[in-house]
Amino acid sequence: MPANKRLLVLPGDGIGPEVMREVRRVIDWMEHRQRARFEIEEGLVGGAALDAEGTPCSDKTVASARQADAVLFGSVGGPKWDSLPFDQRPELGILRLRKELGLFANLRPAIVLDPLVDASSLKPEIVRGLDIIIVRESTGGIYFGEPRGVHTDANGKRIGIDTEVYSEDEIARVARVAFDLARKRRNKVTSTEKANVMQSGRLWRAVVTEIHKAEFADVELEHMYADNAAMQLCSRPKQFDVILASNLFGDVLSDLAAALTGSLGMLPSATLGAVGADGRRHALYEPIHGSAPDIAGRGVANPCAQILSFAMLLRWSFGMEEDAQLIERAVERVLAGGMRTADIMQPGMARISTAVMGESVVRELGKLSA
Ligand code: IPM
Ligand code: MG
Repeated sequence: MPANKRLLVLPGDGIGPEVMREVRRVIDWMEHRQRARFEIEEGLVGGAALDAEGTPCSDKTVASARQADAVLFGSVGGPKWDSLPFDQRPELGILRLRKELGLFANLRPAIVLDPLVDASSLKPEIVRGLDIIIVRESTGGIYFGEPRGVHTDANGKRIGIDTEVYSEDEIARVARVAFDLARKRRNKVTSTEKANVMQSGRLWRAVVTEIHKAEFADVELEHMYADNAAMQLCSRPKQFDVILASNLFGDVLSDLAAALTGSLGMLPSATLGAVGADGRRHALYEPIHGSAPDIAGRGVANPCAQILSFAMLLRWSFGMEEDAQLIERAVERVLAGGMRTADIMQPGMARISTAVMGESVVRELGKLSA
């Protein structure tokens, strides 16, 4: 039996805890089958942490995240905390973890699984077989740039300020992640910015071009304005392989890409730090969907994105490619068998609960590994 793998599990708010419960089923199955052994610590983040500890992400949670081999994150936020001051919002929980652990590369796949091709708002021929990934910079740019804030000018009028700042090293390291990833896929990177209007966009384009020339000339590189990329994603999404974007553009483009698949409840993500001298890298895995407070606590949420985030964790943090694929295939087989949670319900299919989806995935795991 290999050594214990240390996980920090942060279910968070809304549907986070209920979809995380279904991952626990998968983990139990793996341990029972002696495929791996995990040492799991559970912690608080977001609104749940605000209520219990008075802060959306305590020093203790950050320390536990540093110690862990990988963090499995649920989702944060909800109406209960909407009126809090800006510096106490639950969303700061995830932002603090990204920043303090140096998780600068946010990988967001948008995949259309065959059984769900009709769930997309786009025509089946446009999205069938879609498999793209967005590499979003996630510790810099306008999310963290200074100056920021709301000030009052000499005439007593308020001014809101955010600042987009990127150093060349920040651009270079995330570009390398995108190029590396492309080599394992269809070998193409589309780098997005607004070099036509933004100074940081000009630098972005220049640095990506330099890194490409010096280290990744074998990879196809294309530059595209971010607004055009949004349009192209809606009209011809299959032209893309890896899309590289800043924190803000990546946030927007990844929601758009996720919507194209018609199944936000299916999409996982990984956020990776740099590889340290000891070969270790901090990493956090989370579904794209968020806390969905409107359906929380009703047992109807789709746990697949959280389960698939765990599959990404096995792949990226532990090199367990075979187990990751097994989980991905199990999810696809449940869908192919006609089972659907409410978010991906289609005519003629069987509508099932969060728990039944989790149980069904585990049942398929059993069959696939028999
Ligand atoms: C995301 C979310 C977050 C972000 C929020 C919750 C801070 O929208 O992960 O895409 O903007 O990064
Ligand atoms: Mg977002």
